[in-house]
Order: sequence, then structure tokens, then C-alpha cells
Amino acid sequence: MAFDLGTPVNTALLLYILYSIQRIIFPSNSVPQSVPNEFKNGYTWMPKSHPPTLLYQTYTPKTLEPFNGKEGKRILLAIKGVVYDVTAGRNFYGPEGMYANFAGRDASRGMAKQSFDEEMLTPIDQPLDKLEDLTAEEIENMKGWMEHFSSKYIVCGKLVENDAV
Ligand code: HEM
Repeated sequence: MAFDLGTPVNTALLLYILYSIQRIIFPSNSVPQSVPNEFKNGYTWMPKSHPPTLLYQTYTPKTLEPFNGKEGKRILLAIKGVVYDVTAGRNFYGPEGMYANFAGRDASRGMAKQSFDEEMLTPIDQPLDKLEDLTAEEIENMKGWMEHFSSKYIVCGKLVENDAV
């Protein structure tokens, strides 16, 4: 059958093909007038604001304690000298959380012994818990928690003695 240009469908098709060829030969290289920051379809390829950054810092038991999540503040906890930002786990560590006792504290012993009893926490004006009496099993348990925390939260510092800074 011959290509009948008189048929509206064929005319439209031809115009479309010509337009497509023109776009291939002369691609549009227009420059956006303003910096785009969001796709209309909800896919953000450039964040509206910079994601929060965390500075790796040295903490002591006393400087760590204020990060206990009270009044909506950040929540940090330490295990064996490693400080984790667990703010994302506010349900666990916030003032109403099941593990609120660990917020702002050295949680090593509690994690090792799987206990949130008060005596698991070393008072913040005392030297760091040396953890020397822990059994191999308890140390393994503590390391297991460290793996869990490293995979879920951000390491944001180290915990040293009060008089070390
Ligand atoms: C009555 C006993 C306990 C129950 C029913 C319980 C229950 C839970 C549940 C449901 C989760 C959430 C798991 C998830 O969503 O990934 C969790 C996580 C956790 N539990 Fe327990 N738990 C108990 C005892 C303890 C004890 C004694 C400790 C002391 C170390 C502990 C420390 C933790 C920690 C550190 C997490 C991880 C939270 C996180 O991912 O940030 N739990 N527990």
C-alpha cells in the first residue's frame, strides 16, 4: 500500500518523525536559569539542605553525659571506648526508652552482661571501667553489640578518662 500523505494519521506520523530527527541532530543544550533542587516526582537528586554532619570528637564520661537525649537533644553512648551516635534510636535510648539508662553513658558493662541494672554504669566522676573481670563470653557479647551498633549507627568519637583532655 502506498504512503498516503493526505491521511491525517500519516501526516501526523511524518511530522513526529521529522521532529524526532531534528531533536537528534540538534539536541537541546539549554542551561537551567536557577539551580534545581528537587524533582517534581518526589525524587530528590540534590538535597534542599546539607545532611547533618558529625564531627569525630573525644569525650570523657562527664562530657558524654549531657548527650542523654533529654529535651530532644542528641543521644550518644559508648562501648569499650567507642562513642556511637544513637539519636536515630530515640525509641530505645530516649528518656522514655527501654534502654534510656545507657544514654550519655559508658554502656560497656551493661552490654557485656546483658543488663541495664544501675550498677552496670560507672559514676561519671570515676575512672573508666577497665572491664577486666569480664568473662570471655561477656566480652564476646559486648563485641557482638559493637558490631550491631557499628552497622546501625555512626561512630562519632572516642571515650577517654576525665583527666585525659
Ligand atoms: C525483657 C527483656 C528484653 C526484651 C523483651 C527486649 C526486647 C528488645 C527488642 C524488641 C529490641 C528491638 C530489636 C530490633 O528492632 O532490632 C531490642 C533491642 C535491643 N536490646 Fe533488648 N530486650 C530485652 C532485654 C535487653 C537487655 C537486658 C539489654 C541490655 C543490654 C538489651 C539491650 C538491647 C539493645 C542494646 C538493643 C538494640 C537497640 C538498637 O538497635 O539500638 N535488651 N530489645
